[in-house]
Amino acid sequence: RFDTSAAEAEPGVILVLTHRNMPRLGILPLVSVTNLGAVGASALPIMQDTEIRYNGQVMALVLAETQEQADHATTLIRIDYEVAAAKTQFEAAKATARTPASILIEKNHTVVGNPGRELAQAAFQIDNIYRTPGNNHNAIELHAVTVAWEGNRLTVHDASQMIAGSAQALAKLFGVKKEQVRVLSPFVGGGFGGKGMWDHQVVAVAAARIAGRPVRLVLSRDSVYRIVGGRTPTEQRVALGADADGKLSALIHTGHSVMPPYSACPEQYTLTGRALYRSKSYEFVQHHLDLDIVPNTYMRAPGEAVGTFALESAMDELAHAMGIDPIQLRLRNEPETHPLSGTPFSQRALVQAYHDGAARFGWERRQAVPGTQRDGEWRIGLGCATGSFPYARMPGASASIRLTREGRAVVSCSAQDMGMGTSTVQAQHAADRLGLQIEAVTFEMGDSALPSTPMAGGSSQTVSIAAAIAAAADKLMVELLRLAGNASPLAGLRAGEVRMTDQHLVSIQDPARAESIQSILTRASRDEVSVTAAGSAPLEMLKFAMHSLSANFCEVRVSDVTGEVRVTRLLGAFDCGAILNPKTATSQFKGGMIMGIGLALTEETLFDERSGRIMNATLADYHIPSHLDVPEIEVMWTGVPDPRSPLGARGIGEIGITGVAAAIANAVFNATGKRVRDLPITLDKLL
Ligand code: MOS
Repeated sequence: RFDTSAAEAEPGVILVLTHRNMPRLGILPLVSVTNLGAVGASALPIMQDTEIRYNGQVMALVLAETQEQADHATTLIRIDYEVAAAKTQFEAAKATARTPASILIEKNHTVVGNPGRELAQAAFQIDNIYRTPGNNHNAIELHAVTVAWEGNRLTVHDASQMIAGSAQALAKLFGVKKEQVRVLSPFVGGGFGGKGMWDHQVVAVAAARIAGRPVRLVLSRDSVYRIVGGRTPTEQRVALGADADGKLSALIHTGHSVMPPYSACPEQYTLTGRALYRSKSYEFVQHHLDLDIVPNTYMRAPGEAVGTFALESAMDELAHAMGIDPIQLRLRNEPETHPLSGTPFSQRALVQAYHDGAARFGWERRQAVPGTQRDGEWRIGLGCATGSFPYARMPGASASIRLTREGRAVVSCSAQDMGMGTSTVQAQHAADRLGLQIEAVTFEMGDSALPSTPMAGGSSQTVSIAAAIAAAADKLMVELLRLAGNASPLAGLRAGEVRMTDQHLVSIQDPARAESIQSILTRASRDEVSVTAAGSAPLEMLKFAMHSLSANFCEVRVSDVTGEVRVTRLLGAFDCGAILNPKTATSQFKGGMIMGIGLALTEETLFDERSGRIMNATLADYHIPSHLDVPEIEVMWTGVPDPRSPLGARGIGEIGITGVAAAIANAVFNATGKRVRDLPITLDKLL
């Protein structure tokens, strides 16, 4: 029972929205790899009935003239409710765990050979449970939306990494045509998987429609924890068996994570082990626990970030048990082709990354016996671990190019820049392709009215858009050849036989045959030429096993007195194909590695299993690494171009965080002899 009368009587209050006056809305399709246009993060109805499923669920919205009036009126709403049993306990939920048939597009329960027997008979065995806590999204920019209706036209200024999909979803939900909804989000102050569509956008759009006025809604930091999902906790078993030479005979990776049926993200932590090492036998399976919580979601390298913690800690444990160098162990198990499917790798130079990284880091200074290096109260240790993240290029990206007679180009698509340098890199790419100086290229993005591109997610945006721009540039050359006509020195040449350079269209065979853009367009009496095209289908993903990879190196100091861990050096040696822009790439890698420090040492969502409530929903109590936690970070790469990818590049947005937590845990073990298998590695676990 809702009593909103006191709130409604407050000065400045325009509208109190509850299930009673909320428009009847359908369900948002969940974002998924098989429904790439979808953006929904929750399949629960939004303020459609009186059922409260989890603590933090949106039950009412107060629209007022000022934030203060709205905040005050909110406190006057009375909600009386009947209590029903809630599922809030990880351990208890195991009894009713679900085992889905697939994890993303991979078969979930996968068995190759006889891993149980191989493990039992192995010369060396490791079999342990690793735990990672829930993590929450803490982009510095809060989730915020400003919306306005004009008749049936809706304009949404959002902070979104899913612009085109958001426009489609809102159109469907509110029953208008998709051309009538325009979502703008030219810059995003951090996304990491959390800036999709949550309840706040939907209730803001509903309130604006009912109130007949524009609405701005900014989530508080506390609300971001309660309304936007985060990374689920995991409990993972990794068992490794190896022969006397360190060759793997069994690789078992199984576990439990939380995924309510209304959430989209399966936290695919067993995917890494399927692609990283050769082994005689394998078993993988993930079980989902159904808790009554805000739907968990994608968070930078979902699955791989926590999966590599377990797998790469276990590899370090195996190396220690065998008395061999952990890099050696990895090299002995390096596969020639994808270990499960036999599919060829598109390009893989992990061995080189380890070689180069170890040399730069000074890996030879590592002491094999743990706890033997110290400096006063500080024990010093070195660790390494592999990171891995699958390549993805999304179908359906399109882009347009407008080229003027003066040799200026505008490249447009609905891409989103969350700070990773999308506009910079694509302007560079377009300038190269169009034979223009970068200053002559304008890259327009962040607007659903522009040619549609998929979300910025899965580290896939750069190649997805690159393929679209490449297709548009090819089409532009066809159009220019047509306009050039028979009077041109290019007459008779076909697309594919010309390229653009220095504001000219030039024969590849015979560079003497050339005509300037200006000359072609002048003769055709055109001021400009404009084309739109879609990128080719990402068939490379079917034919090749493609992964970004990294070799992470870490040095820690651990205080004997307090148990405090300080990461003193961190180096990432990446193998991600061609690096398109060294400056923005370095920044991306470092950002991911810093997030890895948070995962390893400081970040933990404290969830009260009695009340189902998050206890530390503030940046004061949930510590993300700050400057004092972060050492000078070194980043290097093999830079070997991937022959199967547009521009030779694989993704770099998420690989940075993967493997870092294991590298830190392995360094802590090397420093102290203590193996911490549950993150974060706080000082109480080391005393
Ligand atoms: Mo990412 S977790 O695909 O933004």
